[in-house]
Amino acid sequence: MMFMSQEKINAAKKALEFVKDELIIGLGSGTTIHEFIKLLGKQVREQQLKIAAVPTSYDTQLLAMAQGIPLLQPEQTPFIDIAIDGADLVAKDYLIKGGGGALTREKIIAYEAKEFIVLADEDKLKRKSYPVPIEVVPFSAFFVARHLAKEGLRPELRLAQRRLGPIITDNGNFILDTDLKITNPKKLETELKLIPGVVETGIFTKFSKVIIGTKKGSRML
Ligand code: A5P
Repeated sequence: MMFMSQEKINAAKKALEFVKDELIIGLGSGTTIHEFIKLLGKQVREQQLKIAAVPTSYDTQLLAMAQGIPLLQPEQTPFIDIAIDGADLVAKDYLIKGGGGALTREKIIAYEAKEFIVLADEDKLKRKSYPVPIEVVPFSAFFVARHLAKEGLRPELRLAQRRLGPIITDNGNFILDTDLKITNPKKLETELKLIPGVVETGIFTKFSKVIIGTKKGSRML
């Protein structure tokens, strides 16, 4: 059962203001985006908007399909106008994402988009730390984990719920959750990618706007 707070709903409502007709929208993943997709679907139906969306997970794809939002595969669009997604932690110059395991597709779409709008609530702004997920090719998982352990970290293979063994991402990979301390996010983001087998990390250093949903409405950071 997913928890939907008023803050998340209000952030999603505000994000709708950035949707214009004929835009190609990158749709992130997670509970906040669930709310956004429902609102977007309603707007598409009521105003016959000619938008199209590129989903960042099967979860988002299924919900967007149910809402009647026209979808595109990446190869069907030369660009993304705007990407809209949630986050697990929001700092001044970086985000941590990937709590839902969709970090790789989320980052591809967020970084490709002309504009990337992040939806969060006060809790995500207040957080001082959050496990940083690293998506790895299964074959490399134990090598990558050893590299990280040598740096004094304690990586944990993310396990599935209601299925035995590790979670398998939409890209067929594993996820290592790490206790990385982030002081120089851009450097860390680049360095981690140099470990063979690392597909992507949940450190996001490129975003345009942050909408913080509050109990009564929202504010822009
Ligand atoms: C999915 O992999 C994540 O990056 C989500 O965007 C993030 O976990 C935010 O999720 P909620 O909107 O559910 O808090």
